[in-house]
Amino acid sequence: MSSRRTPYNARMHPVVHNQLDEAIDQAVPILQRAHYVGVLTGAGVSAESGIATFRGSGGLWEGQRVEDVATPQAFRRDPGLVWRFYNQRRASLRTSQPNPGHHALYRLEARLGSDRFALITQNVDGLHRAAGSRHVLELHGSLARVRCQECGEVKYRPANEDLPPLPRCDRCSDLLRPDIVWFEEALPEDVWTEAADCAARSDVFLVVGTSAVVYPAARLVPIAKAAGAVIIEVNLAPTEASYWVDIGLYGPSGEVLPKLIAL
Ligand code: OAD
Repeated sequence: MSSRRTPYNARMHPVVHNQLDEAIDQAVPILQRAHYVGVLTGAGVSAESGIATFRGSGGLWEGQRVEDVATPQAFRRDPGLVWRFYNQRRASLRTSQPNPGHHALYRLEARLGSDRFALITQNVDGLHRAAGSRHVLELHGSLARVRCQECGEVKYRPANEDLPPLPRCDRCSDLLRPDIVWFEEALPEDVWTEAADCAARSDVFLVVGTSAVVYPAARLVPIAKAAGAVIIEVNLAPTEASYWVDIGLYGPSGEVLPKLIAL
């Protein structure tokens, strides 16, 4: 597998939009030759499905302090407030469908086979699975699952199901929480270990729609790079990950991914 070893630093050499087609032409043969493709996605891949991203104007964290709704302390202090936030996010999924970016990633897996592909996502919206993707590693949990804070039982509760303001466990009656990884919590160890293995096995690693500021997820990019992968970034603009990037494809993922994967 050929690899351009010099890290592409987009902050020093900004990519302008009219170079996008040229960059896609450069990326396509590299992707076609890949034996194993890893993908890390973030909220941006679902933006064209109408789901808000976290950072920046209009982002979920703009009108909401992380400390109030997405930490274990917040849940201990005011579980009703935390559940209101997550029930609103569950409700917003009812009208959301996978967009052409999710579908393109499904087609890439279908072409390569699931044993040569891993879709590692920070998203909790379930849209990759809804698009048909199978080898999906959800680093930050899922809005479609609840977990008992006492007995630990995890249950599938799809977003189209209304939950009470303070849902309780069928088994032990204690309070349920969203099965989401909050700030200050560790990622599920088995999921993280598999994600890091897949990143290290990749000869092409796509970084799609993430600001790459949340760790350890963002560490997957240097892990893949150190193992020799060509790093391709798809985003509206360069990010914290761009330091590691070989090819930057700067445009909406719902437009860029179908072009990259169709060719
Ligand atoms: P962010 O909101 O931090 O970043 C979204 C990224 O998507 C930005 O880099 C945007 O430029 C990009 N973007 C927006 N629209 C796009 C589009 N149509 N096509 C391509 N890119 C687009 O979201 P994440 O990086 O996912 O964690 O955030 C990481 C984690 O921080 C989340 O999983 C969440 C959050 O706090 C937890 O809740 C634990």
